[in-house]
Amino acid sequence: MTKICMTEDIPEREARSFEVEDNTTIFITQRDGVFYAYQNLCPHLQTELEFLENQFLDQDQEYIECSTHGALFNVETGECIAGPCMGDSLNKVNIKVHSDGGIYLD
Ligand code: FES
Repeated sequence: MTKICMTEDIPEREARSFEVEDNTTIFITQRDGVFYAYQNLCPHLQTELEFLENQFLDQDQEYIECSTHGALFNVETGECIAGPCMGDSLNKVNIKVHSDGGIYLD
């Protein structure tokens, strides 16, 4: 199993991107103590979501936001709830938090 990072690397309501296998970029965010990971790919134009490094959330840190056209995505489900790709979803990446405090690709 591939270790991505430690839980303390991802503070609540923040996000970090990581390069994993096959040059895929993912990002992980924490909400209410649970960690969620998605591929860094907007379903609208298949571009990366962030403009500034690790800036994946909107100003209120409530939703995941695409910096290109402002689509908003639910943190827990990855579903687009506003913007040009409404109803589409980010690709979820399965991760597991282990007792050593590490976050691993599942
Ligand atoms: S590329 Fe993400 S909303 Fe258009």
